[in-house]
Amino acid sequence: MLPGSPTIINGSSFVYAVKGMGTASGRFPGEFTVPVVRLIQTIFTYVKTQQWGQGPVLHLFSGASGLGDVRVDLSSAAATDKVDVFEWLKSDAAQQRYSVVLLDPPYDLSPKKMRSIGYAGWKPLATSVPHRQAFATWARQWACSVVWLDACAPKPKGFDRAAMYTLLPGGYHRVRILSFLTNPALVGSTEVVVKPDLPGQQVLFP
Ligand SMILES: C[S@@+](CC[C@H](N)C(=O)[O-])C[C@H]1O[C@@H](n2cnc3c(N)ncnc32)[C@H](O)[C@@H]1O
Repeated sequence: MLPGSPTIINGSSFVYAVKGMGTASGRFPGEFTVPVVRLIQTIFTYVKTQQWGQGPVLHLFSGASGLGDVRVDLSSAAATDKVDVFEWLKSDAAQQRYSVVLLDPPYDLSPKKMRSIGYAGWKPLATSVPHRQAFATWARQWACSVVWLDACAPKPKGFDRAAMYTLLPGGYHRVRILSFLTNPALVGSTEVVVKPDLPGQQVLFP
């Protein structure tokens, strides 16, 4: 069961909830906080209960996180594949179905800022049209679902929004959004299947 309740916007429904983001431990810049890890694990558990949920879990821009069977990051010791994500997407390993693709890419920070916080790479995703097109083209073919943490709420063409979690950090930090998207071309419509089980509030936008 996903946390939140179903929302209906312009005829399509998804689960929506606002949650506190918690505090980073300071081990790795941009690391998932404990509440975010719990939310992601809840979604993973939800996916496993679906008919299409048995494939491996792929984690792109995985940083210091151990979530996922395959973890792609340029430099992190926790990564299984230490390579540029956009190169990895062209590799043989990428040409198979993944039940979930988790990603927490760099946001639109400047290269200088990215270097200063210690990332080995700083290619943004949501704010770069060629990069997000490369990801979307690959994801439409191979990703049954996508769990995407960003400073916006991306929804590549061809995906349905199953859930959206607004994560409120403390102080002056940026609000983050965790989007859970499903790929109807691979898993069928989740309109009826997913929504009633997702945790959140139900809101109707006429
Ligand atoms: C926001 S951090 C992810 C942190 C992760 N959520 C965690 O809990 O540790 C983004 C990561 O993407 C990596 N990265 C940036 N550009 C990349 C690229 N083109 N290919 C692979 N990794 C990249 C950075 O080195 C950094 O580890």
